[in-house]
Amino acid sequence: MLFPKNFLWGGAIAANQTEGAWDVDGKGVSTSDVLTSGSHTNPRRIEPSLSSEYLYPSHEAIDFYHHYKEDIEMFAEMGFKTLRLSINWTRIFPTGEEDEPNEKGLQFYEDVFKCLKEHNIEPLVTISHYELPYYYVEKCNGWCGREVIDSFVKFCKVIFERYKDYVKYWLTFNEINCGVLESGAMQSTCNLKGFAGSVKEMPNDPQGRFQALHHQFVASALVTKYAHENYPNFKIGCMIGFLPYYGFTCNPDDQLEAQHNMQMIDYFCSDVQIRGYYPSYSKRYFKENNITIEMKDGDEEILKEGCVDFYTFSYYMTFCATVDPNAPITEGNLLGGARNPYLEVSDWGWQIDPKGLRWSLNEIYDRYQVPLMIVENGLGAYDKKDADGKIHDPYRIEYMKKHIEQMGEAIEDGVDLMGYTPWGCIDLVSLSTGEMAKRYGMIYVNKFDDGTGDLSREKKDSFYWYKNVIETNGEEL
Ligand code: BG6
Repeated sequence: MLFPKNFLWGGAIAANQTEGAWDVDGKGVSTSDVLTSGSHTNPRRIEPSLSSEYLYPSHEAIDFYHHYKEDIEMFAEMGFKTLRLSINWTRIFPTGEEDEPNEKGLQFYEDVFKCLKEHNIEPLVTISHYELPYYYVEKCNGWCGREVIDSFVKFCKVIFERYKDYVKYWLTFNEINCGVLESGAMQSTCNLKGFAGSVKEMPNDPQGRFQALHHQFVASALVTKYAHENYPNFKIGCMIGFLPYYGFTCNPDDQLEAQHNMQMIDYFCSDVQIRGYYPSYSKRYFKENNITIEMKDGDEEILKEGCVDFYTFSYYMTFCATVDPNAPITEGNLLGGARNPYLEVSDWGWQIDPKGLRWSLNEIYDRYQVPLMIVENGLGAYDKKDADGKIHDPYRIEYMKKHIEQMGEAIEDGVDLMGYTPWGCIDLVSLSTGEMAKRYGMIYVNKFDDGTGDLSREKKDSFYWYKNVIETNGEEL
């Protein structure tokens, strides 16, 4: 298997799922800070009252804020070439409205980037990973408020200038296509003004979500254009939660259903961000779903002028689309779909499909012909300490091995793949359930669902395995 010499092996984390220190050094409240813990069976809640009745996992998370040096040292020991991480907007602008940034917040990320540089690890920065200053939820219904665009641009200008010597690769919005889905209101479009309650009971407002998405497209394009004009060495990417659909049967109706889902769920946002205009199929979707996007003069030009340079995505599972209401059902964190009899599922019901990754890489590359990067992938699993006090996780090694093999096949197929940053390279808080028990890491963190644990870090078997994968540039799996 031939991985390019400069292949970016690494790992991925996000601020709200790792940092903790949610109200330290001037940080404001973000949308993730009002999300309670939950479980596979008990949905998370949005509780802006910040009542002591609830546990809010982002408040301490794994306390990366105070452990980043030790964590980066471990990433370096594994041989990481890159680390994907995000910047929490509310550390820099606590409500988003301030004229001046919060110096302590800026300094924190500068220290992190310096530390990465010392270890020769290239940062890949997600500017907005599922968080918005909570202030905007109440002020203007989250991203539905057009004014959030200006605030985002202000934030980006500050971080671009401050970190220009440390960061070259930027992603504007994490899994931007999540806004298409009903669950996207939770963390992506944040159009939940006045709402408190279970995330299963969030109001479903597609008109609001697509308007919010339009604002995110404009915001992304504006900062991409600005970066291209002012920082020619920057590369700006989009980030898509890729949720591929196969037709459940060869019934043309199932195939059409799969194609429709692929268009609206998987390709709609990247079509806009890479091609610079709304795709033709979206017009019919909007008409049939009574969605009207309010555009300002100049928006279409902005989209055209702010196309991203590369495409990144998360890949966890595949789905089967069918028109048969009696087909056996599976579950994911976001969507259901028919159960694929050829695939196994994780403990959380996610269908494991390594070959689907090769299929996806080929499909995406055929469509866009820009460099690709897998910036999330991994197995959320229950890890237990063995009698020898160690964490043996052969299931995770098996999962990663099979996915990396398929990446190699896709490279052979001709796909231009820049890198691979498996999700939650260190255990962190789960997005969909708010648990610690759903662990992805190659580094174990001694922290539990009830908030207890001394936060100590330990290497799992997968740590040593992945280290060797990186050392041999994917030759030994
Ligand atoms: C992606 C998100 O959807 O999947 C991450 O970008 C998230 O933030 C990851 O953590 C895994 O999902 P979960 O629900 O298992 O944490």
